[in-house]
Amino acid sequence: MSRTPLIAGNWKMNGLLSDGTTLAKAVALGAKGAACDILICPPATLLAPIKEALAGTTVHLGAQDCHWQASGAHTGDISAQMLVDIGCSHVILGHSERRADHGETDNQVALKAAAAHNAGLMALICVGETEAQRDAGDTMSVISAQLDGSVPDSATSENTVIAYEPVWAIGTGRTPTAQEANQVHAHIRAHLRGRLGTEGIADLRILYGGSMKPGNAVDLLAQPDIDGGLIGGAALKAEDFLGIVAAAVS
Ligand code: 13P
Repeated sequence: MSRTPLIAGNWKMNGLLSDGTTLAKAVALGAKGAACDILICPPATLLAPIKEALAGTTVHLGAQDCHWQASGAHTGDISAQMLVDIGCSHVILGHSERRADHGETDNQVALKAAAAHNAGLMALICVGETEAQRDAGDTMSVISAQLDGSVPDSATSENTVIAYEPVWAIGTGRTPTAQEANQVHAHIRAHLRGRLGTEGIADLRILYGGSMKPGNAVDLLAQPDIDGGLIGGAALKAEDFLGIVAAAVS
């Protein structure tokens, strides 16, 4: 098995030109020589300048969404090909904030992921239960249904990463225990192997997201089925993000 940890920063709707490029450069400098893969996903307005700021570094660039069509009358949307054109290698899809704010459905997420695959992008597909679903004991069935609906048949270890982000843990400072999170990750792995077979997704990486900080990253990242993190708030400070990067390689 070779699942190089991936530490990904989802900046969400944060960052202007000056502070965004400064942050990206600080991350790239501090992460030099890191043994994990590192990804920055700034808002779309900063993709081009941050691509330039990251030139010559090993830090990957990703977007936070794409449309499933290659081009056409879709005002405000960006296609997977456009992201590749500007230098992206990854795209986050189906984040719970997009599902909540824009009514994105599992089926749309699957179409977007297939478009990302066709364009040569790595799709980071997000799943996660709400607090009510967790309290009702429905976490595993909710996750299974989201995987069935959101992960296209074209998914392999080479073009897909899954991010498990419990909705109740995002931006709240609360997290499941590392063991609880690992149980869900193991379930995700087993469920996808059952559906897609073991060969194509043998090295599939499954990231944890939701209030990951330097202080809890060591425990979470030490779990056998947690292969990295998708970081929100802590990705906006180089020191915090690099603290998590350090936890991934220790
Ligand atoms: P926080 O790290 O701010 O909880 O956000 C997690 C997240 O939503 C990453 O996609």
